[in-house]
Amino acid sequence: MLQTKTTIIILAAGKGSRMKSNYPKVLHKLGGKTILEYVLNTAKSIKPTKIILVCTNNIKKILSQTKNVPVEWVIQKHQKGTGDAIIIASKNFSDNENIIVLYGDMPLISKESIRKLQESKKKSNLSLLTSNIKHPEGYGRILRKKGKVISIIEDKCAKNKEKLIKEVYSGTFIANGKDLKRWLLKINKNNINQEFYATDIVYLAYLEGNTISTVKPLNYREMLGVNNQVQLSILEKIIQKKITENLMISGIILKDPDHFNLRGTLKHGKNIEIDTGVILEGNIILGDHVKIGAGCIIKNSMIKNKSQIREYSIIENVKIGESCIIGPFCHLRNNTIINNEIHIGNFVEVKDSTIEKKSKIKHLSYIGNSEIGSQVNIGAGSITCNYDGLKKSKTIIGNNVFIGSNTELIAPITISKNTTIAAGTTVIKNVEKPGLVYNKKEQKYKENWVLTKSNNKKTTK
Ligand code: UD1
Ligand code: MG
Repeated sequence: MLQTKTTIIILAAGKGSRMKSNYPKVLHKLGGKTILEYVLNTAKSIKPTKIILVCTNNIKKILSQTKNVPVEWVIQKHQKGTGDAIIIASKNFSDNENIIVLYGDMPLISKESIRKLQESKKKSNLSLLTSNIKHPEGYGRILRKKGKVISIIEDKCAKNKEKLIKEVYSGTFIANGKDLKRWLLKINKNNINQEFYATDIVYLAYLEGNTISTVKPLNYREMLGVNNQVQLSILEKIIQKKITENLMISGIILKDPDHFNLRGTLKHGKNIEIDTGVILEGNIILGDHVKIGAGCIIKNSMIKNKSQIREYSIIENVKIGESCIIGPFCHLRNNTIINNEIHIGNFVEVKDSTIEKKSKIKHLSYIGNSEIGSQVNIGAGSITCNYDGLKKSKTIIGNNVFIGSNTELIAPITISKNTTIAAGTTVIKNVEKPGLVYNKKEQKYKENWVLTKSNNKKTTK
């Protein structure tokens, strides 16, 4: 038997004015992915003949920059309603195929529910995904006569009695291309919003005597859409719950799953422990036995086996080797690469640098644009002065260098391997060969001097 072709239309061109945001509604993020990505992924999983995406020029521009989206783009210039969006898309589908419409702001609609809808199409001309929900406010209500669907009434147009109806419309339906085109020709803007409502096709189908069926989603949560920031936050919670459950099922120890967020993707090994208040963003890779302390934020980074990120550290675009101890309270960023067995401690910032094996920077330092060798010790309060107000310059430190506390390294500068730098030194010249580097400083001393109001003023002048 010849298989009927299926086209999926995704409506994503709406203004999203209830979001009160300059950014397009469907490009707001949930769990690090855009709302629209969820709908697109579900649409792809159905393996339709094609996907038509009705959107604005702005959305097309943003999406085609980020990745290759395999869709037929249809631009809706003036947002005249969901019905108008389907009318514009109708030029791109033919009479003898099944059309599934999905709304771009309904990210939880599942593949299984769409499959059920496809199944029900075999016995009806129009099939709608609907469900009874506790709080139907804002949704189109399903009107029935003797159990049979006759129309959908939008919330804004509903009379008080109709507002009590709990069965609502998800925005998802299936119909034959020919039927749909005929119904679309008859819809109009005679409603409170002066918009073409896609939902009006239901009454038109009923008037023609078509069989209209309804299908329930597997989970009532699939009916939750995003029209404002409150709904966005509700969906974020739901998505994070699912993410954390999956992570725990795959073996990650989450000490406090209610206060953990993954906003992207996580590839991970075994025996990983993550404490409360951690945010992982972008693409994250964690090796075996990695521990992440409370309050850490990690973005687009890789952490290899047995390394620990201790409390309240921020790591962005960094590669961390094996058996390192990082933090608490440190900030590693901008393509920093950290080899194995390295300790970086309290209030240390490292930016755009590489650090080789077994080196230590344990307290209050800034390292920027540097190449640091192996077994280097950088004492408390030492900094690379990498910026002269116009450009950034490099600091290169050889293996086995000992840098005393409170050292300033004025870049560009190179320090030979096996050098020792005394505490409090300002290093202004390259150190070509191993040795001791120090600045001559004078220390004065007054015997039996005691602090009083008058001598305090004099000495601090
Ligand atoms: C719509 C339905 C409502 C249903 C609800 C489910 C209509 C008239 N109402 O209401 O019955 O219960 O969804 O979530 O369809 N869009 C366009 N072009 C436009 C207008 C909207 O592409 O001109 C897109 C939006 O980007 C969005 C989708 O269509 O992805 C739905 O639009 P929205 O304004 O959110 O409709 P609702 O008020 O939620
Ligand atoms: Mg909506």
